[in-house]
Amino acid sequence: MHQTLIAREDLERRVTELAADIDRDYQDCENLLCIGVLKGSVFFMVDLLKQLQVPLAVDFFQTASYGSDTEPGEVRIRKDLDLAVRGKHVLLIEDIVDTGFTLRTILDLLKFRGAASVKLCALLDKPSRRQIDVPIDYRGFAIEDKFVIGYGLDYDERYRNLPYIAVLEE
Ligand code: IMP
Ligand code: MG
Repeated sequence: MHQTLIAREDLERRVTELAADIDRDYQDCENLLCIGVLKGSVFFMVDLLKQLQVPLAVDFFQTASYGSDTEPGEVRIRKDLDLAVRGKHVLLIEDIVDTGFTLRTILDLLKFRGAASVKLCALLDKPSRRQIDVPIDYRGFAIEDKFVIGYGLDYDERYRNLPYIAVLEE
């Protein structure tokens, strides 16, 4: 069995808190675009967005996954957005910020395309692994440098459907 790191109830409570913060900050915003990074952020994103009152649009990016032959720090876009970003207030939603390379690439791209503002919401943060600085505006939990699974996070495409976050047993 994998050891539970963040229980289902703790995830639910924290997601509700994050949603309240986001709703408050964007209450007067009329063109909020919430962008998820496939596939890991989907479970978190659905739970979060269902609790928002502010009007919003939804879109997705997919980047090259871990374990590819890509050089560290070089991020490929596998699936681009459907919607235009120019003039939109973008909230980028990620499962976990590790080295920061993925997020840095996406944040720069969104700014380059003319987003009115870009903020980042990440469920998990592994600060000790960071190689490139990315500001996290809404952070669920800071965790130690352990490989985690569940609630969207996978190991070799497995375990995404666990309703809690666990540490992968080697
Ligand atoms: P970064 O570019 O190094 O920040 O990588 C971020 C991506 O790596 C995340 O979106 C995850 O897909 C993956 N990742 C990093 N750490 C973990 C982990 O502990 N479990 C599962 N996936 C992870
Ligand atoms: Mg991911």
